[in-house]
Parts: sequence; structure tokens; C-alpha cells
Amino acid sequence: MSSSATLLRGRTLNFRAEPAGPEDTAAFCYIEDGAILIQDGMIVAQGAYSELCHRRPEARVVDHRPHLLMPGFIDLHLHFPQVQVVASWGEQLLDWLNTYTFPAETQFASPAHAARMAGAFFDLLLSHGTTTAAAFCSVHPTSIEAYFTEAARRNMRMIGGKVMMDRNAPDGLRDNAQLGYDDSKALLERWHGRGRASYAISPRFAITSTPAQLEAAGALAKEYPDAFVQTHLSENRDEIAYTLSLYPEAADYLGIYEHYGLVGAKTLLGHAIHLEPREIALLAETGGKPVFCPTSNLFLGSGLFDEGGLRARGVASGIATDIGAGTSYSMLQTLNEGYKVLQLQNQPLHPLRAFHWITRGNAEILGETHRIGTLDPGTEADIVVMNAAATPAMALRMEAATTLTEELFVLQVLGDDRAVAEVYVAGQPAKPKPA
Ligand code: GUN
Ligand code: ZN
Repeated sequence: MSSSATLLRGRTLNFRAEPAGPEDTAAFCYIEDGAILIQDGMIVAQGAYSELCHRRPEARVVDHRPHLLMPGFIDLHLHFPQVQVVASWGEQLLDWLNTYTFPAETQFASPAHAARMAGAFFDLLLSHGTTTAAAFCSVHPTSIEAYFTEAARRNMRMIGGKVMMDRNAPDGLRDNAQLGYDDSKALLERWHGRGRASYAISPRFAITSTPAQLEAAGALAKEYPDAFVQTHLSENRDEIAYTLSLYPEAADYLGIYEHYGLVGAKTLLGHAIHLEPREIALLAETGGKPVFCPTSNLFLGSGLFDEGGLRARGVASGIATDIGAGTSYSMLQTLNEGYKVLQLQNQPLHPLRAFHWITRGNAEILGETHRIGTLDPGTEADIVVMNAAATPAMALRMEAATTLTEELFVLQVLGDDRAVAEVYVAGQPAKPKPA
């Protein structure tokens, strides 16, 4: 049976393509008195309120004026078992993993711990306006069960996978090539395509996988070509040197994943900072997707992601928080730091491009624009309601703002969860209430 229709009223912003700038009005649609008509979790229509209010007169109207309605944010790389690792002091990547991350992930063998953390994790995503994310879980199947069970309870479109790791990790945090394959396959069979869940085959990175394990991961990717693959690539100079010492035959870091059949259009490669020309050419050829994690890259001192250089060579990038090396759950704060990383390389990021990136842009990286990332009719009604005057500093700054571009930039520089007035998941209000 159909549920009754809902009409959200407010200022609406939708993207059709990546805007070159504010003049590129073919790429985006901004409506001052706009509306989104929702039924059964889907967007039925989007346009001017004056037109849509007649379309379904029985629809329940939720008036969000003067706030800005846009598609829910998408986070393409983060770690579910690192919710208690965020803000851990002093190390760079490899020491940070050994000192803080691996001990925290060990605890996810416990179903009770994993379930408690999953509740908190999804509350955090939603309160920051993130409606879809691609997360690494721990090596334990229990962590994936907790993750997808909680995502299903909230009806969220989520991507996840258990990390495969069979070396260079402590006891309690290793599988082996066969077990990693078997567990991943069973979890993929159980969750991929169930409700709004998608599975990502997740060899953590080449350092923690033997050649036999990467071969098994590649076999799984071949068996399930519509599953995602996620891993890490060229984040830190010491990591790269160690990786190449473990795989001396490889042409370069990406060549390792290439050799095992792990690089394709559904492969998400976290970080991808220090790339060789051959690796960039391979990304362009295969459609592999680098994912920029600015708060993490600055926090761990990893380096500056060259978005402009990749773009010039035909490679599109995603953007992500990378919790827990990342320092904020907010995609707004991720854009804030991303803007600074790109400024250091003389690559100014226009606010319209920035908001396209965390919505339709990341959906395009996933190949999911037919489902998420826009306000287009026929897509899923995942929507954020943004208040650019949510804090005293924002309200003061907004008094002097006259354009949409200015408002977006205030949101991205000063905004965080306080700027998220509401979030809708499949048409239902879902912003967690403060405890
Ligand atoms: N490389 C391999 N594992 C990780 C991780 O958990 N975080 C980050 N930032 N890099 C990694
Ligand atoms: Zn990561």
C-alpha cells in the first residue's frame, strides 16, 4: 500500500553536472521557493512550490523555509571501527595504525561492542547530514553484521566490507587468504543488494595482505563484478617504500592491485596522494577512483592530494572524511580542509563545485546517480536541510552574504552538524535527537 505524499518546501539546490562556476546555470538548478514531492521513499517531483502544491493537494507540507534543501551528503571512505580512534595524537600513518587503530579494531570481535558502536556511528553520520557512506569494517564478520544491521534498521543506502588482512597486524586482527575469501564471500552473498546495502571487497592495503590474499580478493572481485572494491593507495612515503619492498616485482603501488585484478571502475582508492605518471595513466584507463581525504591527510601529515593534476589527466576523484584518521564526520568540514589543501596547490575550489562533489559528484564516482546524489524524480529521497545561520558566527557572516555562492561557502567553512537542521532518509526525518 502506498504511503501518503509529503511535500518539503524550502530553497532547493540540485545539480545536473559539475558546475564550472556560478554562470554555468545549465549544471545546477536553484529555486528560491522550491519544493520536493516525496512518496514511498522516492522523489516524485521537484520544482517550484507554486506548481507542486497543486500536483498533490492532499500531500502533507513540511515548511523548511528559509533553509536550503539539497541531496544528502555522500562520504566515500571511512572506518566504522575507528569511532574511538578519532583525535589520537602524534603519529604518522604506520605508527598511528599500530599504536591506536589496530588495538581499537580488535574490540570489534565482540558483537555487543560492535552493535553499540554501530548505533553511535550511524547517529553521527546522520547528524552531520551524511546519508550514504562507504566504510571499512574490521576483520571480524561481527563488525559487518552490526554495520549492515544498523544501516538496514535506518533504511540507509550504505556500502561496506570487512577488511581482509592476513599479515603485519596483531593477533586477533588477522584472517588468512582462504578465511578472508570465505568470510567476505559469505557476507557479500548475505548483504549485497539486500535493501539498500552494497558490499565492498576490502583488502585493507598491500602491507596487510599477502600475495595469496590479494589473489583471493581479485578472484572474488571477478566473481562479483557488481560489488565495489575498496582499499588504500599511496598515502604516505614510508608506506609506499615498505609496500614496494613487500612486492618487489611490482611496477609501482597501483601495479600491485592491478596485477591481482583489483583495479576497475568500481574500485575506490583512498588517499592516492603520491602517484607516479604510470599509475595516473592506469587510473584514467581503468576508471579506478582515487578518493581525497583532506582532514586525514593533514592530520597524519601524509601530503597534498593533487585533484587538479588528476583531473587534467582525465581522472575524477571522490572526497571523504576517512574517520578515524580524519578529524571530522562533517562533509562540510571535509570541504573546508579540502579547499585549503587545494589552495596550497593553486587549485581554488568553487563552492558550487564543492557542493556538487559531496552530492552528485560522489554519487557519480559510485555509478549511483540514478539512485542518490540529486533531487531528480525517480531517485531515493535522501535530503539534507541546511541552515547557514546556525551559529552566531555564521549568522553574523550571513548578514553580509547576498549570493548562493557566498551562502555555500559560509556553510563549508563555518558549518558542521549544527548547520544540519534536518536530514531525510528515504523520505523519513532521521536527524538523531540530542540526548
Ligand atoms: N591504510 C591502511 N589502513 C588505514 C587506515 O585505517 N587509515 C588510514 N588513514 N590509512 C590506512
Ligand atoms: Zn582509510
